[in-house]
Amino acid sequence: MKTGRLKGLMLLAAALLLTFVTTAQNRLIVNADQGTVTINRHIYGHFAEHLGRNIYGGIWVGPDSDVPNEDGYRKDVMQALIDLEIPNLRWPGGCFADEYHWTDGIGDPADRPKMVNTHWGGVTEDNSFGTHEFLNFAKKIGTEPYITGNVGSGSVEEMSKWIEYINFDGVSPMAELRKKNGQEEPWNIKYWGVGNESWGCGGNMTPEYYANEYRRYATFARDYGGNKLYKIAGGANDWDLNWTDVLMKNIPLNMMDGLSLHYYTVTGTWENKGKATEFTKEEYLETLRKASRVDELITKHSTIMDKYDPEKKVGIILDEWGTWFQVEPGTNPGFLYQQNTMRDAHVAAISLNIFNKHAERVHMANLAQTVNVLQAIILTNENDMILTPTYHVFDLYKPHKDATLLSHHLISEEVSFGKEKLEALSVSSSKSGDGTVNISIANIHPDKKIDLDVALRGIEAKNVTAQIVTAASIDSYNSFDKKDVVKKADFKDFKLNKDNLKIAVPANSVLMVRVK
Ligand code: AHR
Repeated sequence: MKTGRLKGLMLLAAALLLTFVTTAQNRLIVNADQGTVTINRHIYGHFAEHLGRNIYGGIWVGPDSDVPNEDGYRKDVMQALIDLEIPNLRWPGGCFADEYHWTDGIGDPADRPKMVNTHWGGVTEDNSFGTHEFLNFAKKIGTEPYITGNVGSGSVEEMSKWIEYINFDGVSPMAELRKKNGQEEPWNIKYWGVGNESWGCGGNMTPEYYANEYRRYATFARDYGGNKLYKIAGGANDWDLNWTDVLMKNIPLNMMDGLSLHYYTVTGTWENKGKATEFTKEEYLETLRKASRVDELITKHSTIMDKYDPEKKVGIILDEWGTWFQVEPGTNPGFLYQQNTMRDAHVAAISLNIFNKHAERVHMANLAQTVNVLQAIILTNENDMILTPTYHVFDLYKPHKDATLLSHHLISEEVSFGKEKLEALSVSSSKSGDGTVNISIANIHPDKKIDLDVALRGIEAKNVTAQIVTAASIDSYNSFDKKDVVKKADFKDFKLNKDNLKIAVPANSVLMVRVK
């Protein structure tokens, strides 16, 4: 072989080797000096519907209960939510919102009429938890209420009067009624949803019809006393892009601040959703792949919104998201009670990383739901309470709230089982007001530690701290017998060398790394 040709072949081999080494490596470049968009803390929001044991038994036990309570609210759950610093809480539904008549839930509890919760188990709702109970709870836990009005079976007058009852600080029939019921000052609530899933349980409307209804409801949803309402239109069911298009076309931008979007992660089919705690590795990856698709979903809806609202004034409000599995055996199918494993922790981590990425358009998101329902952060059993793996991820991610989103570039190896394949790492990076860089990393690989090489650009790194949520297995969970199988802990397996940070990311883990 001629020397020239040999040299050429050797160069080609070296280039191929180099390509292999660089692509095979797990690498992350974080640009700490490149960020303009704030990650709205409301992306870390929650949702409490009158559904199963979410409100009754989960949040509210009533003042005469044996469960330790403060004015009827469970003390343990209250403290857990205070500790988590939840930015907002959506209430009273969900599907329940469109059959809820708020006037049934005010005044002396003994005189409140009862109703049937037709959507959720057909149980009797005694209305003992109403407007005052919800708003006082929100105040106690330091969160912003987000109220959904009834469009499906209510009226413009009913919603308009609810807003007057809650927010008006003058002489008016509704303000007088509020005072008579013990609340002198208005609550000044900002976030209002106009109906829920109006394409389905909220009234089976067409988008054209709903857009007109929205305009009527929004017209009579008044700003009182300088409290400017943030009005949220009932948005699409996951991939229904036409719904978004019609609403954006027909609702003037000055009448709508947010547009909701619902996306549930369902493994298998709606008819056969699989168990929350028992699954194969292939099903595990299927769940995470479906959760990851919210990235494409947001991009698609956002692209439509860009056509009408290029300045991104109207926010996507992802006010229902999370996993939806079969209910736990022996529980009421209408109560949607499911356990929560490390798989759910990964769904939460991946989803929150994606919401952060779209922070310019995603102004709020609400996990479904808070206590004892779907991907709950808290489970209760009589006097007892556990925090789920999902709770711990939200706890870990606190530094991202109100931080500046940073740009990053990630090269990750893949993990595959059966026909499922996904990148093993998912990352989000942000910068807090004090200059600390926050990097959240999920390694979804069930059993492989990943050595991640992080190049820190635009920061003189001096100090690194980290915390982790992990467990022995992807199906590990906290039970009432073993409450701390999955919890948050300090993490030390990293090495900083000037602007290079090497992290040994354990299998099946979620990390928050903070660089100063
Ligand atoms: O979160 C449970 C239900 O899912 C909600 O009530 C409804 O909006 C959605 O279909």
